[in-house]
Amino acid sequence: MQNVFLNGEYLPLKNAKVSVLDRGFTFGDGVYEVFLVYHRNIFRFEEHLQRLNNSLSAIYIKNPYTDEQWRELLMTLVENNPSDNQSLYLQVTRGMSDRDHAIDLTDQPTVFAMSKALPERNLSGGVNAICCDDIRWKLCDIKAITLLPSVLLRHQAALAGAKEAILLKDGHVTEGAASNVFIVAGSRVKTPPKDGSILPGITRDLVVELLNDSGIGCHETEISKEELFNAEEIWITSSTWEIVPVVKLDDQVVGNGSPGKVWKRVVDIYQQFKNRQQIV
Ligand SMILES: Cc1ncc(COP(=O)(O)O)c(C=O)c1O
Repeated sequence: MQNVFLNGEYLPLKNAKVSVLDRGFTFGDGVYEVFLVYHRNIFRFEEHLQRLNNSLSAIYIKNPYTDEQWRELLMTLVENNPSDNQSLYLQVTRGMSDRDHAIDLTDQPTVFAMSKALPERNLSGGVNAICCDDIRWKLCDIKAITLLPSVLLRHQAALAGAKEAILLKDGHVTEGAASNVFIVAGSRVKTPPKDGSILPGITRDLVVELLNDSGIGCHETEISKEELFNAEEIWITSSTWEIVPVVKLDDQVVGNGSPGKVWKRVVDIYQQFKNRQQIV
């Protein structure tokens, strides 16, 4: 039976219960993080915690734990799970209160975390994506649990036989429904800049860093719809998927319809980086 963490206790999943008046349930009032665990090490732990801190302070929730307490709590879940590679989920909501929109700063947050075995995934052959209007709000840099627009967008993608929806706002690419976007155009790698219209992806930031360090380079700049459709390569990135090539966008083949050569280089560099992290 899987053990989870809820408000200071480790307990079997089936015994983990929260009130129906929890603001996460009534308002979607909370934030979350997803960490990947490779060989029992939490990958990019500090970066994820920094983003958690940013999300919490943006919604006026005081972080209930220090970084060390978070590490201990999450590592306990990792150690209790038999798998070497895991996907670690944590969520902090504003906790229980009367159903009233107004925030009471004295509310006790609800903290929930669980870890499950990382499923085998191989998307290296490339995936299909569709292009959609970005129907979300203006604070996409907060990793909010309120994910209804992304859920609907992913459903739209699934109905079209695609894996992801790439979003356009005012004629420019923002990101995927649950991923960041890179393109290769005229041999230059580009990704949209970090502002309120995208989630600052931990994978995105690492890919930008690795591209710059390797000399390939990366331009953090606006990408128009036209550039997207004319791109030689399109990649989507997330902690869970890492770096995945998009080989078809709507009805149009991307590049020559198979994963591109810049993508292959970047994936190698990313895997080498991961392997180095596991050795130290
Ligand atoms: C909207 C959105 N953008 C980007 C990402 C990728 O972020 P990360 O690389 O930190 O997993 C996610 C991940 O869930 C997401 O939901």
